[in-house]
Amino acid sequence: MLNFGKPLVVTIICSHRPHTPIIGFESPVVNERSLSQRLAADVMQRCDDLGRCSDEPGRLTRTFCSAAMRDAHRLVTGWMEAAGMSVRVDAAGNLIGAYLPPGSNPQRRVLIGSHLDTVADAGRYDGILGVIMGIAVVEALRESNQSLPWAIEVIGFSEEEGVRFRTPFIGSRALTGTLDAGMLTLCDDNGVSISQALDHFGCDTQAIDECRATPGSIVAYLEPHIEQGPLLESLDEPLGVVTAIAGQTRLTVEWAGEGGHAGTAPMNLRNDPLPIAGRWAVAVEEAARSTPGLVATVGRLSVDPNVPNCIPRCVTASLDVRHQEDAVRIAAVEKLLTLADELARGANLAMRIERQHEHSAVAMDARLVEGLAKSVANCSVAPQRMVSGAGHDAGVIATVAPTAMLFLRSPGGVSHHPAEAVQESDVALGLEVLVHFIHALASEA
Ligand code: HGY
Ligand code: MN
Ligand code: MN
Repeated sequence: MLNFGKPLVVTIICSHRPHTPIIGFESPVVNERSLSQRLAADVMQRCDDLGRCSDEPGRLTRTFCSAAMRDAHRLVTGWMEAAGMSVRVDAAGNLIGAYLPPGSNPQRRVLIGSHLDTVADAGRYDGILGVIMGIAVVEALRESNQSLPWAIEVIGFSEEEGVRFRTPFIGSRALTGTLDAGMLTLCDDNGVSISQALDHFGCDTQAIDECRATPGSIVAYLEPHIEQGPLLESLDEPLGVVTAIAGQTRLTVEWAGEGGHAGTAPMNLRNDPLPIAGRWAVAVEEAARSTPGLVATVGRLSVDPNVPNCIPRCVTASLDVRHQEDAVRIAAVEKLLTLADELARGANLAMRIERQHEHSAVAMDARLVEGLAKSVANCSVAPQRMVSGAGHDAGVIATVAPTAMLFLRSPGGVSHHPAEAVQESDVALGLEVLVHFIHALASEA
């Protein structure tokens, strides 16, 4: 049994490097596996368990307020309660566990977490890992039963990917008070609105404004997350510290023509939108390849009526553009929309643009970034400071509270794919870093 309570030195074996004592709690006799290694094993198992909560058979897709999300809430609530947390679901469907360490002021909290929703046919770690690591950090803190000046809350945001309603960050925007009433009327492909989905999930949409975090109440928001890219693996480093999140633009372009019979309409009398969309998609890729640091993706193409012997009447292409400099991203988007319009005019097509989401590049809190880097270094790991190309709830919360992200290496650099992975030893290291960082933050409070 580990002997806790005397805030001295823990000897958690840093599985990645020769073992380094870090501040935390005394553990005179560490059993065959260190605390962080035991907790990391639980984290991996729980991510597997959550990976079975899906809206679709045979693959992982968990969307906002779905039946699978309810199953996920049930599992995570059980783990949070077993870790001594009080649990609630706010009016935006965010799942929140609160741990009140001895001596803590419940009005102020360090928030740890990420999102519980997934893309379609997803991996098991994007978002979910951050929530489950947050619970493991509370378990580690609770075992030492050390006093902290503030509460620790673990949050599972309800919607980050934007799959069901084509608008991302519903949960974190509720916390920042930027979820406007108009958004609640957005409908999914079945005509169900966000408001109806929340009501059905058991949330009181009249209380959405109460989700907003009291200014100053969040001491820090920490989001542990897989890198979702190849950099850390290429450097053979387990952990990264995010300095900024790239800005992003998401929109759709719709081209519409007359359509017609595939067999009887002469080619010179057609105004087929599909070849136009194809030419535009090639131009999108060429623009991104020729602009350093720019990524641009046509991830969804829908064709109406989508029948082999009908000339398409209407084609809708999605566009996702990202860059760490807003001016570069905005210029690229405008250039691509001008081209879309020129192609439409040249083919006698109607064109309609629908902007779905836009956010500027956002810097993480410099003080927290440095503190997190120190905690990473304390675990004998070289802190890799890096920009995130992926969007995160941290990019939203950073607008109202000091925010930092800890990246964990993505083996194969794969994400938004069932092959998404994380190494258990990197999770153990990440837990050590987070516990160390929280104690260091508390010592400055
Ligand atoms: O799309 C993204 O950047 C994130 O995974 N939602
Ligand atoms: Mn994602
Ligand atoms: Mn994510």
